[in-house]
Amino acid sequence: MTATRIDGKAFAAKLRERVGEAALGFAEKVGRKPGLAVVLVGEDPASQVYVRSKGKATVAANMESFEHKLPESTTQQELEALVDQLNADDAVDGILVQLPLPKHLDEQAVVDRITPAKDVDGLTPVSTGRLALGLKGLVPCTPLGSLMLLKDTLGDLTGMNAVVIGRSILVGKPMAQLLLDANATVTIAHSRTKDLADVVKRADIVVAAVGRPEMIRKDWLKDGATVIDVGINRLPPEPGAEKGRLVGDVAYDEASEVAGAITPVPGGVGPMTIAVLLRNTLVAAHGNAGIEAPEGL
Ligand code: GUN
Repeated sequence: MTATRIDGKAFAAKLRERVGEAALGFAEKVGRKPGLAVVLVGEDPASQVYVRSKGKATVAANMESFEHKLPESTTQQELEALVDQLNADDAVDGILVQLPLPKHLDEQAVVDRITPAKDVDGLTPVSTGRLALGLKGLVPCTPLGSLMLLKDTLGDLTGMNAVVIGRSILVGKPMAQLLLDANATVTIAHSRTKDLADVVKRADIVVAAVGRPEMIRKDWLKDGATVIDVGINRLPPEPGAEKGRLVGDVAYDEASEVAGAITPVPGGVGPMTIAVLLRNTLVAAHGNAGIEAPEGL
């Protein structure tokens, strides 16, 4: 049997459409568009590509995009001053500081400075704490997008065994919290987990976020498992090719022979991240304007 391919690209397009419509409704009510500020420090080529596509998607969703590109030589003080300025700017509903920052900068100190009402990345201590407490708040984009795909594929997750591989602040930890909130039985595995293949074998739901190309093999998976592959890894180029192939953390072709459903790379989780970022910006805008966000986003 071949697994169902979970089409994150199509799901993300529909979500962006709904967010774009709701953004028009917001502008009519409030008299301004929702605004997202993205801050990029330095010249990392992958980050430049992400920031450009975020800007385009923001405008396409009827929101205002504010891009701040700072040189590699930016100091901690300058970056924090920009965050303060964006915190105080009423046209800005969401602030995203693209990570990773250059090594001389203190990432956590910068993120901590973002006012929680504008924390569309869900990375401040307040957002993280609210998620841990099961309170409403802004949730990191990639895990929330992954949860949306899981619910769309499986419906109610109650009682299912979920294994999250990876314990990062951006993906693994918040993913585990969201699955727990959805009544799954959750295991967080990581690079030090013993007998990882055996742990994964028990999972009805596997979320792979380790950053190791094609690490998860067919024989690790339970028959019919639902697999969410968060990994985006570039393989070394084939002879004569300029760029290597993009692959996930799961060996897609062989895993498809065993899994019930699986996200491809690219076209799975990746497109969900930006769609949820726009959704979070819309939610933050409603909060900042003191009005209820529409249901169903
Ligand atoms: N770099 C890679 N993914 C992300 C993300 O979701 N948010 C931020 N701020 N930086 C990232």
